[in-house]
Amino acid sequence: MTRVLVLNGPNLGRLGVREPEIYGSATLADLRAANERWGALLGLEVEVRQTDDESELVGWIHEAVDARTHVVLNPAAFTHYSYALRDAAAQITTSGLLLVEVHLSNPAAREQFRQHSVIGPVATGTIAGFGPDSYRLALEAIAARLA
Ligand code: DQA
Repeated sequence: MTRVLVLNGPNLGRLGVREPEIYGSATLADLRAANERWGALLGLEVEVRQTDDESELVGWIHEAVDARTHVVLNPAAFTHYSYALRDAAAQITTSGLLLVEVHLSNPAAREQFRQHSVIGPVATGTIAGFGPDSYRLALEAIAARLA
């Protein structure tokens, strides 16, 4: 079965309590369960991880590249400034693997600093603004691309 790593950056472990009016009431555990369920329906083996640590996230991306695993990535605040994460993420797509950048909210409709993504230009595509469904749409896009 095709594996997909669903990687989440800083503060996403606080889902459910962090600004629920923006990020919703679902917790990371809810998001994990939903992603695993959606993956199973799509024939994908999904593993969801979250870290607040940039170097850990970079390491997980290296792991995905080496294992030839497609990635759904919510880089959270790293989206807007982490060139280290961008350089890691670029290795996914230049290796011929799929990288879908996802966001729960729509950063383009928020503060100015959120309107620029350093990850977007090296991603296969970006899905934002649909809450947890952004992840479902990302998994569907991967399944469709692989079909
Ligand atoms: C986010 C949007 C980012 O701007 C923010 O820093 C996050 C979450 C989202 O999923 O909407 O932490 O990536």
